[in-house]
Amino acid sequence: MHILILNGPNLNLLGQREPQIYGTNTLNQMEESIKKVAQPLNVQVDFFQSNSEGAIIDTIHAAKDKGIDGIVLNAGAYTHYSYAILDAIHAVTTPVVEVHLSPIYQREAFRHHSVIAPACIGQISGFGIDSYRLGLLALLNDLEK
Ligand code: DQA
Repeated sequence: MHILILNGPNLNLLGQREPQIYGTNTLNQMEESIKKVAQPLNVQVDFFQSNSEGAIIDTIHAAKDKGIDGIVLNAGAYTHYSYAILDAIHAVTTPVVEVHLSPIYQREAFRHHSVIAPACIGQISGFGIDSYRLGLLALLNDLEK
C-alpha cells in the first residue's frame, strides 16, 4: 500500500501554532509517528503540505498516477468552505479520510461543518496527532476490504 498524508494551510506551523489547541508536536514529529506505524505494516507513506488550495487540488488529482492508494487529508480551514476541494475528491477514485487534530465540533460554529465530508470515506477529529495515525489505520482497513 502507498498512502499520502496531505496537509493544508497553516499546518506547517504545527507545534508553534496555538499549541493549546493543536498541541506541541511539529509536523515533522507527526510524520515520524506515522512512519513508525506504517513501517511494520509495510506501508509506504508520502507527505505533502501546502498553504495553497490549488496545490492541494493538484495533489489530489495526481495521486492515482503516482501510485497512491489512498489519502489522509487535513484540509485545515479549507475543510469548512472549499467546494473546489470537495469537487476534487469527488473527481477522483482515490479514497480520502478526513482528519483534524482538534475537536472541530466543540469549537466555533463555523468549524462544525465540513464541506468536504460528503466526499470522504470517513472523518476523525479531536485526537491531536493521533488523528493521523487513526486515519491511516481506518484508510488501510477500508482499502483491504
Ligand atoms: C484543523 C481544524 C480547522 O478548523 C482549522 O482551520 C485548522 C486545523 C485541525 O486539524 O484541527 O487549520 O483542521
